[in-house]
Amino acid sequence: MKRILLAAVAAFAAHAASAQSYPTRPVTMIVPFAAGGPTDVIARIVTEHMSRTLGQQVIIENVGGAGGTVGITRASQAKPDGYTIMMGHMGTHGAAPALYPNLKYDPAKSFAPIGLAAGTPILIVTKKDFPASDLKGFVEYLKTNGAKLNEANAGVGSVSHTTCSLLQSLTQAKFTRVAYRGTGPALNDLVAGQVDFGCDQIVNLVPQIQAGTIKAIAIATPERSPSLPDVPTTKEGGLPEFQVSAWNAIFAPKDTSPEVVKALAGALDKALDDDNVKKRLHELGGTIPDKQGRTPEALQKLVESEVARWTPILKAAGAVAN
Ligand code: MLT
Repeated sequence: MKRILLAAVAAFAAHAASAQSYPTRPVTMIVPFAAGGPTDVIARIVTEHMSRTLGQQVIIENVGGAGGTVGITRASQAKPDGYTIMMGHMGTHGAAPALYPNLKYDPAKSFAPIGLAAGTPILIVTKKDFPASDLKGFVEYLKTNGAKLNEANAGVGSVSHTTCSLLQSLTQAKFTRVAYRGTGPALNDLVAGQVDFGCDQIVNLVPQIQAGTIKAIAIATPERSPSLPDVPTTKEGGLPEFQVSAWNAIFAPKDTSPEVVKALAGALDKALDDDNVKKRLHELGGTIPDKQGRTPEALQKLVESEVARWTPILKAAGAVAN
């Protein structure tokens, strides 16, 4: 009896010690898109501060492909020890199940949610010499010349692809869809005029719009963004049904211990309360979730509601994966 008691005490002590000391080495965050895109930008802003709280570096690993589902699949299969986490979003953890019938993860069951990092309004943007500058003109041109136009996105299941699928469904326009490993590289080609337009997250676009290297046609939120006060809303532009915002959030693999989840969620919470982090995200047009909105429980509810929301929309739009 004494031996059992001693073994139980030792096991508890070891567990408590490992939980108290987590992390004892750098943590890897898989970003399922190429460097330089919105998911990567948000990941780097929040993890720079999280590293300070955790006392260990959070290292970004960009793993692109298949609209983010390659990277998220890999992250979902990592050891649940807290040393591999991921930045997912409305595409990978909302739209993907409708688009990938054989998806190798379930957004609502394969993860330990950590917390929401930032909300990201969506904009319709074009190359700078696109022959329309307002939403009415853009939609008309898209409907009549779509066959000649290339839309840049980050692959089936990405936010950019999902939101432009909604635009296609609302306008019934037909255009060529060009997939990149992220909207960072896609934006380079938009600036170069190699592609014609896209639907992207605001945090990827503000510097280029302000520099005039691309054109902002409309923002798909009820109100204009403080970081882009001159960009009209889709409602002002006559397409009020095109209302869509994305979100980016941190997840760990399922079965990650509650202590590790608590440490990661606490570090994210501190990052989102930091004035410099808030300033950088706000300048890029991102929105910061409030205290209630950034908990693991809130993220679980958000994922469940987003999968339920996007599945009928995408099926009705006929947006299917390759
Ligand atoms: C997307 O879903 O479009 C991605 O967020 C793009 C990116 O981050 O590169």
